[in-house]
Amino acid sequence: MNITIAGAGYVGLVTSACLAEIGHIVICFDKDTEKIEDLNRGWCPIFEPGLQEMISRNMGEERLFFTDQANLAYEDADCILITVGTPQRADGSADTTNIDQAALDIAENIQKDVAVAIKSTVPIGTNERIEAVILDNAMPGLTVEVISNPEFLREGSGIYDTFHGDRIVIGSSHERAARIVEEIYQPLAIPVLHTDPRSAEMIKYASNTFLAAKISFINEIANLCDLSGANIEDVSTGMGMDKRIGNQFLNAGIGYGGSCFPKDTQALEQMARQNDYDFKILRAVREVNDRQKQTLYRKAKNLAGNLSGKRTAVLGLSFKPNTDDIREAPSLDLIRDLLDEGADVVVYDPVAMEKVQRLFGDKISYASSIDEAIERAELAFIVTEWKEIKEFSLSKYRESMKTPLLFDGRNCYSVKETEKHGIQYVSVGRPGVPDTYTGSRPTDAF
Ligand SMILES: NC(=O)c1ccc[n+]([C@@H]2O[C@H](COP(=O)([O-])OP(=O)(O)OC[C@H]3O[C@@H](n4cnc5c(N)ncnc54)[C@H](O)[C@@H]3O)[C@@H](O)[C@H]2O)c1
Repeated sequence: MNITIAGAGYVGLVTSACLAEIGHIVICFDKDTEKIEDLNRGWCPIFEPGLQEMISRNMGEERLFFTDQANLAYEDADCILITVGTPQRADGSADTTNIDQAALDIAENIQKDVAVAIKSTVPIGTNERIEAVILDNAMPGLTVEVISNPEFLREGSGIYDTFHGDRIVIGSSHERAARIVEEIYQPLAIPVLHTDPRSAEMIKYASNTFLAAKISFINEIANLCDLSGANIEDVSTGMGMDKRIGNQFLNAGIGYGGSCFPKDTQALEQMARQNDYDFKILRAVREVNDRQKQTLYRKAKNLAGNLSGKRTAVLGLSFKPNTDDIREAPSLDLIRDLLDEGADVVVYDPVAMEKVQRLFGDKISYASSIDEAIERAELAFIVTEWKEIKEFSLSKYRESMKTPLLFDGRNCYSVKETEKHGIQYVSVGRPGVPDTYTGSRPTDAF
């Protein structure tokens, strides 16, 4: 079977490499010529653990090809998986322009019957609409069946998730296309759930927004722990032991970011509005997250006062560890707040520095290591829990910083350990931290 993947982003590249790895012949198409040139030169344009090696291996064994030519990509395809981006519009809704463009390219170039699966996250009803767009513009007489096949991989563990997913959802009113797509994934031996297309589209939004809600909920509990003297770590552990709740997504911190949760939450909220439905929880999830992103900054202001001219290290820039993706990353909000205060900001991340540099240029400084970033700093913020940041020796903060004042947005260290090292340590929802909202400090704080 000839498989074409439209879009060489985080989802498209991981899916292309993994499908080639299980023996399929895959052509990955992207309209971004520079990206395709990089890939054909053997350079993977994104950081995703194991991806560069998997792409190189499958290109070498002639199962994986990259092109920016729509005709080469689509004319011979039996199955097309669409993984193009669906960014957020100003009103919060999902922008499906890329999907529509892919549909027109497909229509113009296909020469035979084809199954098309939309893996991108799209508003309810998009699959049906896109099938009509392709059929209206394709050569008459061709059978084109569009089905929904939402993607659930997580950046940073995309390859693992593709091979070990909890479920594959196929939303289809076409038996033949559903069978073709199920056959493609069959070697992965992952349970398949068949639904109608609209339910499949909704499963994706419902899953992502539920997870976002879980994060905002635990962050609200953490804020209340800050105010009441409880410890969020113990609270999360106790909650997570309840099988009905589960122990994942209960880590309090400075909020979620990334290319999915923020935009999918807003898109579902917008879809609800279009249906004259007030989705109250979703609005709260988003508002809580927006406030949470400022938590550390507010604590810093409470504790350190005027930040103007203070050398301030920001450690970890990507929206989570093991990715270079900085879309909606909490680090960006923090950097902006610090710059507004006139702080002298120096940043470090193992892989996301280049992308941040494109945004902030020479407004901030870029360190090549944690050591360099915290040298002579008066404050340091941990924003992303990269392994090297989590495991960085506490004694070095004491030795290198001008004043060892550490704000930890990911609760990487035990409070007791930081006390032993004589570090002023502020985290999220654990005792001994200043109250975020009133500015008053618990008596035993510092
Ligand atoms: N990133 C994730 O972790 C993740 C997980 C699950 C679902 N999703 C969803 O999958 C979709 C893709 O996300 P992503 O993060 O991979 O996006 P991305 O921005 O990393 O990549 C999208 C790619 O599509 C290309 N593109 C745009 N229009 C095109 C067209 N007409 N033809 C061919 N290529 C085109 C772009 O050039 C880009 O390379 C989104 O809908 C997203 O919500 C993403």
